[in-house]
Amino acid sequence: MTAVSTVHCLPVELDQVSEIKGRISVLTDKEGRLDLGARRVNKLSKGAITRVIESDQFAKAKLGDVISLAFPFGMAAEAVDIVICDRKGGADQMRKAGVALAKARGKSAITILGMSQKGMADFVQGLLLRSYAFDERRTAPIEAFGDVTVMHSQSDSLAAQIDVVSAISDGVFFTRDLTNEPANILTTTEFANRLSALTDLGLEVQVIDEAELEKLGMRTLLAVGQGSDSPSKVVIMHWNGGTPGEAPLALVGKGVVFDTGGISIKPSAGMEDMTMDMGGAAVVAGTMMTLAKRKAKANVVGVVGLVENMPSGNAMRPGDVITTMKGDTVEIISTDAEGRMVLCDAMWFTQERYKPAAMIDLATLTGAVIIALGHENAGVYSNDDRLCNGLLASAQKENEGMWRMPLGQSYDNLLKSRVADMKNLGGRTAGSVTAAQFLKRFVKDETPWAHIDIAGVAQTTSETEHAPSGSTGWGVMTLNTLVQDMFEAK
Ligand code: BES
Ligand code: MN
Ligand code: ZN
Repeated sequence: MTAVSTVHCLPVELDQVSEIKGRISVLTDKEGRLDLGARRVNKLSKGAITRVIESDQFAKAKLGDVISLAFPFGMAAEAVDIVICDRKGGADQMRKAGVALAKARGKSAITILGMSQKGMADFVQGLLLRSYAFDERRTAPIEAFGDVTVMHSQSDSLAAQIDVVSAISDGVFFTRDLTNEPANILTTTEFANRLSALTDLGLEVQVIDEAELEKLGMRTLLAVGQGSDSPSKVVIMHWNGGTPGEAPLALVGKGVVFDTGGISIKPSAGMEDMTMDMGGAAVVAGTMMTLAKRKAKANVVGVVGLVENMPSGNAMRPGDVITTMKGDTVEIISTDAEGRMVLCDAMWFTQERYKPAAMIDLATLTGAVIIALGHENAGVYSNDDRLCNGLLASAQKENEGMWRMPLGQSYDNLLKSRVADMKNLGGRTAGSVTAAQFLKRFVKDETPWAHIDIAGVAQTTSETEHAPSGSTGWGVMTLNTLVQDMFEAK
């Protein structure tokens, strides 16, 4: 990737403002408020900022608009970009203004001179998130970003806030990179290696290989990967920033590095999108990175099932009956309904080993959720109103769409099998609901649980507010906020 990765935060040195090279960005609101450094730019330019603020153009400008002055008089800077922010609109409006600047300025070096402290970190977050591009697999030389510096009268406390937003955008970028990588590069082994590298951040990482998965009885997860030459793996990431011994929040992710459909093979049109079928696992990994980087005061365990769903002489077939780690048997109707088979064992394992205080699984699980909710909202299913409402509130704060979907006995009845305890497919109707219903059979009564079907939101063909086309990193910000609001010692 290329992205702005570090943001320097410095106190305002008034006599240095005239020497700033590159672009200066002056943040103001509709009332024309300016911080110390911005007032100095105004003075050096003999009131150019005031003249803009008093102009018709400013009066007509919308929030998030950028008005640029090229080669400003009295300064070394090549341009001054005046960004009109809406502090009253909350975090999301400030992020939008940051996005606007990211789009307007390209990759040049930039020094940001603010307003008051409120909303400055959110502004920087928008700028960071929108600076991302996945260009790892191109050979053309890539222009790096110039330095980004914030000069502010309250630089110490602002620097601490900017560290937190950098931890968040780093996690989002990790998720996007993993999800954007093609399947010949991000094999199950490469995925596990990239997760193992997170030990550098203080995370504890364990990789479980096929022999051990076999011993644990995770036959259903193994069945999905058995047609592939890439070995199936489960990777566990621990962040123990909370009270020692306290039950963790568990995050479980579907990590199908490529989903051909298996013997129930998919049509070829659009199959290349199935490189992103490990998006749930990538969100878990990105969230764990963010929690470690900001040293969250919570115990969180991330568990991902990494497999590849391929047809071969050794692949599972429709009609096969497989025994899950829980002990229930599953009749395979479609080898393309593989995500639930990975998750059922990963979720059962997680509950048996970690007795989590709550469990959230994320998966690009069904095309049906895209039919139901499009690319605007992920579908969330839950057995616990408190957990689910917490998730919905966090998603709303972060402006990541999420909509609660129903569970119920009559949906569960659709999973009845002629030969086994259940089949892996509910039928043509309510495909996202019956998939959730399948998972629910592997949730213990005492575990507050939510399942998030992210098939529609993990990737887009057109750019979003915060991301270029491709992987969005949807969910890292929501889960980070959920941890902060519901699981962290205050
Ligand atoms: N990985 C797919 C779901 C998916 C579809 C994700 C489109 C992102 C975009 C999943 O494994 C799958 O194949 N689901 C089938 C389920 C069916 C066989 C019951 C589907 O949605 O068609
Ligand atoms: Mn599938
Ligand atoms: Zn899949």
